[in-house]
Amino acid sequence: MFDQPMLREDALKGKTIVVTGGGTGLGKAMGKYFLTLGANLVITSRKLPVLEAAAEDLMKETGGQVLPVEADIRSYEALENVLKTAVDKFGKVDGLLNNAAGNFISPTERLSHRAFDTVVDIVLKGTYNATLAFGKHWIAEKQPANVLSIVTTYAWTGSGYVVPSACGKAGVLAFTRSLAVEWAKYKIRFNAIAPGPFPTEGAWSRLFPESLSETDLGKKLKPENRIPVGRVGEHQELANLAAYLMSDFSAYINGEVITIDGGEWLQGAGEMSDLRHVPEQMWDMMEAARKKK
Ligand code: HXC
Ligand code: NAP
Repeated sequence: MFDQPMLREDALKGKTIVVTGGGTGLGKAMGKYFLTLGANLVITSRKLPVLEAAAEDLMKETGGQVLPVEADIRSYEALENVLKTAVDKFGKVDGLLNNAAGNFISPTERLSHRAFDTVVDIVLKGTYNATLAFGKHWIAEKQPANVLSIVTTYAWTGSGYVVPSACGKAGVLAFTRSLAVEWAKYKIRFNAIAPGPFPTEGAWSRLFPESLSETDLGKKLKPENRIPVGRVGEHQELANLAAYLMSDFSAYINGEVITIDGGEWLQGAGEMSDLRHVPEQMWDMMEAARKKK
C-alpha cells in the first residue's frame, strides 16, 4: 500500500516545479511523481549528462515535460539562470523543491575547513540562493508559490560524524520556519520533510561505505536494525508526501516539518528504548524474579 501512488491524477496539473538535485535518488523519484500528477518539471544539478539522461527516462516513463538545467547551487547567478530558463520554457514557476545536498561521514577533527564549507555551502547556501532568486521573482510578479525543503531528523537533534550536514540542515529548518511567517503575506508557503533512511546510491555510498558495512560493527549499524518499524523507506511513500505538500490540497500547512522515518529518531532519543532488543523470555525471567522478592 505505502509503495503505491496516493494523490488523484490531476493534483499538480498546470504547475511547474523546479527540483534541485533532481537527476538522481530521491529528487528524481519525487520529480517523477510530480510529472505523473500533471506538473512540468525542471531538474538541476552540476552534471548536465546525468540530468539529460534522467530527463529522457522521466519523459519516457511519464509522458510529461522535463527541462534539465546545469547549475551549481552554490552560485546565486546559476539559480537566476535556472529561473530564467524555466520561465522562458514554461511561462512561470510555481514550486521549488530544495533537495540537493552534499554529505559524508567523518570525525569532525579530521575535516579541513574547506570540507566543512563544501557541505554547508551546498546544503544551506544552495537553499537560500535558490529560494531568494525565486522568491524575489515571485514577489515582484505577485505570484503565489510553494517551497519545500528536504532536511533530516538530525536537523534538530544534531549528530556526530555528519556535523557539517547537521549544521546546514538545521539552518534550512530555521530558514523554512522563519520565511513561512515572513512571506505568508506574499502567498508563498514553506514546509520541510525530514526523511529517515531511504536507500539511494548517493547517500549509501557516502554514509554506509562498503568498507564499514561489511564489518560486524557495520552490520549492527544497518538502518533496518535501528528503525522501530523494521524497514527503510520506499521512494514512493516519500514522493506521496512531497506531492501532497507541493499541491494545493495542503494549502493550510505552512511552516511545518514532517518526519517520515518509521520512528527512528524518537527511538534514538528515548534513553531506555534499546531495551526493545530484550527478548520476551528475559522479560518473563525478570518478572518472575521481581514477584519472588
Ligand atoms: C573528509 C572530505 C570527504 C570525506 C570530501 N572531503 N570528501 N573530507 N571525508 N569523505 C573534502 C575534500 O578533501 C576537500 O577538502 C573538500 O571536502 C571538498 O571536496 P571535493 O571533492 O573537492 O568537493 P566536491 O567535488 O564539491 O564534492 C562535494 C562532496 C561530494 C560533498 C564532497 O561528496 C558530493 O559531490 N556530494 C553530492 C551528493 C551527496 O553528498 N549525496 C548524499 C546526500 S545524503 P580539502 O581540504 O582536501 O580541499 C544525505 C542524507 C542524510 O544528506 C541522512 C541519511 C540518513
Ligand atoms: P543524491 O542522489 O546524492 O542527491 C543529491 C543531489 O544533489 C545530486 O543529484 C547532486 O547532483 C545534487 N548536488 C550536490 N551538490 C550540488 C550542487 N553544488 N549544486 C547542484 N546540485 C548539487 O542523494 P539522495 O539520497 O537522493 O538525497 C536527496 C536529499 O534527501 C538530500 O537533501 C539529502 O540530504 C536528503 N536525505 C536523504 C536521505 C536518504 O536516506 N537518502 C535521508 C535524509 C535526507 P550533482 O552531483 O550532479 O550536482
